[in-house]
Amino acid sequence: MIKVDVGRKIVKVEFNNPKPVVKFDLPEGNPKPSVEFKESSVRSELNGQYVELFFKLDSEDRATAVKRLGVFEHVLGLGEKALPVDRRRTRVIFWNYDNYNYKLGTDPLYKSIPFAIFVEGGKAIGIFVNSATYTIFDLGVGEYDKALFQVHEPSMELYIIFGPTPLEVIESYTDLTGKPLLPPRWGLGLHISRYSYYPQDMVIEIVKETLKHVPVDAVYLDIDYMEGFKQFTWDRSRFPNPKEMIDELHRLGVKVVVIVDPYIKLEPGYPVFESGIKHLCRTPDNEIYVGYGWPGLSGFPDFFNGDARRWWADWIERFAREYGIDGIWIDMNEPSTVNLKDPEFRKRSMMKHLENLISRDNVSIPSFYKDMENLSDNTPDLEMIHRLDDGRFEKHYRVRNAYPLFEAMATYEGLKRIHERPFILSRSAYAGSQKYAFIWTGDVPSDWEALRLSISMILGVSASGHPWIGVDVGGFAGWSDPEATARWYQAMAFAPFYRVHKGRLGNDTELFRLPARFRRMAIEAVKLRYRFLPYLWHLAWEAHLTGRPLIRALPLEFPEDENTFSIDDQYMVGPYILYAPILDRGAESRFIYLPHGSWFDYWSGEIYSGGSTIRSASDPPIFIRESSAIPVEEGLMIFREGSWRIYHGEQGEQAEIVFEGNKITQRGSPLKVDKVILLGIDASGASVDGAEARTSCSRNRCEIVVKGVFREIKIRR
Ligand code: NOJ
Repeated sequence: MIKVDVGRKIVKVEFNNPKPVVKFDLPEGNPKPSVEFKESSVRSELNGQYVELFFKLDSEDRATAVKRLGVFEHVLGLGEKALPVDRRRTRVIFWNYDNYNYKLGTDPLYKSIPFAIFVEGGKAIGIFVNSATYTIFDLGVGEYDKALFQVHEPSMELYIIFGPTPLEVIESYTDLTGKPLLPPRWGLGLHISRYSYYPQDMVIEIVKETLKHVPVDAVYLDIDYMEGFKQFTWDRSRFPNPKEMIDELHRLGVKVVVIVDPYIKLEPGYPVFESGIKHLCRTPDNEIYVGYGWPGLSGFPDFFNGDARRWWADWIERFAREYGIDGIWIDMNEPSTVNLKDPEFRKRSMMKHLENLISRDNVSIPSFYKDMENLSDNTPDLEMIHRLDDGRFEKHYRVRNAYPLFEAMATYEGLKRIHERPFILSRSAYAGSQKYAFIWTGDVPSDWEALRLSISMILGVSASGHPWIGVDVGGFAGWSDPEATARWYQAMAFAPFYRVHKGRLGNDTELFRLPARFRRMAIEAVKLRYRFLPYLWHLAWEAHLTGRPLIRALPLEFPEDENTFSIDDQYMVGPYILYAPILDRGAESRFIYLPHGSWFDYWSGEIYSGGSTIRSASDPPIFIRESSAIPVEEGLMIFREGSWRIYHGEQGEQAEIVFEGNKITQRGSPLKVDKVILLGIDASGASVDGAEARTSCSRNRCEIVVKGVFREIKIRR
């Protein structure tokens, strides 16, 4: 049974009356695709682009939709996958999964964003399956010429999303699932972290050492700040005065982000547990579900209902307010646990821990558990029960993938009471998480392969409606040589989220600890990021308003160029910068593919014409695209004529800039700059607003001193 609804550029298909746990409103307005549908197929068309889907139940009653794959069809998106940029010929699973130390091809991983962009002949169509249960996309593996979308239940809610460009598909997808959050500005700077920094004096020392070389915007406290890993507590032997420490960090200009896990220790007298009993997930027999987390036997907050979310938000608010905490890092929220499989063991440990508990709030001490079949042993029992906002009860396996979304929503609600723009970092995510939290790619290894893989991973996430992605700079698991660490710093210099983090076991990755040559590289990489921060801020606003990501796989910008689909080691930063970090040990140059158009080598001043592969010895290679305006720390960089809107300022004020003929004009809320840097032309005879300007030119690059606001610059060539 098929039901169809049509919105702006989107068709919603309901097959067999689905009841998804996350609800999205279909965007209104035109253009509207046309639709024809029968019992088992849907055909939709918009502006000459069409898609046809066939729906069926497979032999095990799983709802399945099938679409043809063309010979030249490519697949982008799919959220966080350890795969190349083009995801054609892959079979992926959406099932939040704590997959430590993953490699190319490991699947599933932490996040589930069941959204694919199909690109053929430069035109794109998106398919989004709104299902938080176990879901599979098979993109030409099971059947060579077919893409298959399958959920482990007999009904499915699916959206067809029209472009025609990939970026427009992302815009429409975020019209549906929500526009990305706008972070506080400090969210874009360098963040430093380790599992774990302590005691409190050491935290300050690490920050001060780093500050000797580069700016630092935030420092993270991992689980060891807690007392016995209990949420919203401090280990006072390590942190005798957390407030004092945080005040001191604030005086240094550094924000503090602390980790919080979804494990509520079952401990009589522990106020978070006592106040939260009603809000923990249940067993089918209405007893508290008990899993195992860092603090020992623990319950899981049932974020699926508003009561639990308010309770959590209250704790987040109380904790953040009391200590002056700036941001919250929510981890292990797939959720991940040690599943106590043996019911006897579980019962014994339960009784030991809970024997003092008086039953209250209609919750009794758990007495038995069925031994359920599990898809993995680090998920809770799949029959764990959640209460939804509409009063329905659902089993964990039906809604699992949305757990982190509701947790982020609750955490956001709490922080929002204190901070205008909450900062949250989450490990797991579902479609829509972009409204609430930054994310990172979890426990990546630290070697060269992982460094390379990380690029196509963040590009995949970025193409999936979630722009706020980063990786642990330096890698998380295991060891890396200092050269690799320095290359991580470089490779991620333009990543939307830039945090150095590392597991307990493994080499130090703080830049001040690196040997001189690599320390210099890392320092320069961080400085490079800060130089381009105004551009990243502009892109943050653009992402927030439109959904367009900050970093883009090349085919997002050049979908008609077939060569771009196999480029996994370069990325666009917004529309104007092509970045091609060096990713090989000992390498001092690399091959770079430049799509059509003219490109300006940021370091050498050389101008290349694109549509070809070049060998570049610039380090790290940065190319500016023709017809670009890029706000940088020292001013505004322009390469060739064009007209641009630049977002700046706290409220996203807009400057309208036009460069035409011999004149650059600025309207709107103007950018204040020290210099206008013109690339590729001789501007030695420039005047600013009538007055003669001081200019200096070298290597195809002229700097015109402006100091403040300009309305017009004239260039005599
Ligand atoms: C797992 C996270 O992925 C990692 O970043 C963190 O350091 C550890 N948990 C400890 O909290």
